[in-house]
Amino acid sequence: MASPSTEKFDENDFYQNADAFFSSQRDTTFTYDDVSLATNFSEILPKDTNLETNLSERIALNIPIISSDMDTVTECEMAIAMATCGGMGIIHYNMPYREQVSQVTRVKYHINGLLPNPITVQPDILIGDVLELIDEKGYKFKTFPVTESNGKLVGLLSSRVVKARYSHIKVCDAMDPTSEVFTLNESEIKQDPIGIADKFFSNHLGINKLLVVDNENHLKGLVSISDIERIISEKQSVLKPARDSDFRLLVGAAISTIWKPDGTLDNDAILEHVTNLRSEKVDAIAVSAAHGHSAGIGQVVKLLRSEFADLTIIAGNVTSASGVEYLADCGADSIKVGQGPGSICTTRIVAGVGIPQLSALYSAAKGAAKKGVRIIADGGITKSGDIVKAMTLSDCVMLGGLLAGSREAPGDIIEINNTLYKQYRGMGSLSAMEKGSAARYGHNKKDTARKLTAEGIEGMKEVRGSVVNTLAEMAGGLQAGMGYNGAKDLAALRQKARFVRISSAGMKESSPHDVIEVAKRG
Ligand code: XMP
Repeated sequence: MASPSTEKFDENDFYQNADAFFSSQRDTTFTYDDVSLATNFSEILPKDTNLETNLSERIALNIPIISSDMDTVTECEMAIAMATCGGMGIIHYNMPYREQVSQVTRVKYHINGLLPNPITVQPDILIGDVLELIDEKGYKFKTFPVTESNGKLVGLLSSRVVKARYSHIKVCDAMDPTSEVFTLNESEIKQDPIGIADKFFSNHLGINKLLVVDNENHLKGLVSISDIERIISEKQSVLKPARDSDFRLLVGAAISTIWKPDGTLDNDAILEHVTNLRSEKVDAIAVSAAHGHSAGIGQVVKLLRSEFADLTIIAGNVTSASGVEYLADCGADSIKVGQGPGSICTTRIVAGVGIPQLSALYSAAKGAAKKGVRIIADGGITKSGDIVKAMTLSDCVMLGGLLAGSREAPGDIIEINNTLYKQYRGMGSLSAMEKGSAARYGHNKKDTARKLTAEGIEGMKEVRGSVVNTLAEMAGGLQAGMGYNGAKDLAALRQKARFVRISSAGMKESSPHDVIEVAKRG
């Protein structure tokens, strides 16, 4: 048997933690494909890892993934799917203010256990007025509790009578009166709304709405059988929905700076819009711009923080510790990091600025640790391994291109040579800026005298089916990475990660090679 070597070898000099790795390589900046992670001894199976993260003290996600506030990525359908899988969608702002508010409403009213403030109608209006309300607000449901102005329940207007042919009929003449509607007292359901409602629907054949009232018959909530069935089936699914304390899906909305003609911020317009979003229970506001370490973005964040103490504010984008600290001091909870890594971005080419994403995250993480805020790795993620690497330095990732081909992304499907595509464009592309996102890049869309300079391209993504599959694949990859790192949760992954630099030959070795691939990955 060979005698044991006395040579001193500290593996951690070779596979370095983030501080050692990034400070030993100060003259080079890195992005995801520049590094790989060394594995650690593990007692953790991927399936037992915990992917929970927080965007603020008030927002907990079950997977650390949010969808980009881009007009080819996140509208209400994407936001519903994201939250249903445990993440969150940020609804873009390239639409009229009223439309953005109504998109938030659609997410918040999507599926609920006990809906505490259901939309009601008054008994003396016409069915035609109800149809107009549905159209104006974009509601996806047609059944409404009917209440008097003092909140007392007088009946239930069923979807079977909310039809154009009955437009001239008054609600009170078409509704089922309270005597024929099933109600429960709030004290009977409070303890376990889902379990009690489930039992109720099993015992009442054909009934699909249950109204909750107080002792004076004031309406206190509504439960739908379809919601209860979805929630019960969700309990079996691997990805658990991200919900607020009232059991509604989480959703965020992006805003930009709004300027007055004299060049000052239009505080009133910003506050009015955010107040409307808040009334619909939006969970987070993202103050989004290409250059977040800027006076204008700081001013908007300060304004929102002074008016809405408990609002979760996301702001960005930055690529430095000082940028994170600035936005944290203004009042942001989570700061988006990334300038130019996005798949449709041309900021680095056009403006000559930006930092390769992993180095930007390292610097930003230092600012976040100092201020006790969170950071979101935004852009440049093309595979689940990138998410594992991003999560060694951040609290969440934001995805655009990976989700843009999904069924739930907005936009028409185009067929080219028997392949289906969806449009995916940068918010700094000319067409997106003309639609409204110019402010994000410091331009005024009405300023026709000056040509807008694009910082993004317009492209297409192959259609990929539902985003639910993509998220399951991404979450599975992240869990695999955590298993290899011996990390039971994301805090442990941050603490245990050890980096090595990877050469181009190493990168080639990392992908399938020297075989003819017969089945596509992922
Ligand atoms: P991925 O790589 O996920 O990136 O497609 C999405 C992120 O890219 C940012 N974004 C832009 N960056 N010009 C840019 O330089 C643009 O036109 C543009 N549009 C979006 C944004 O941060 C998004 O989340």
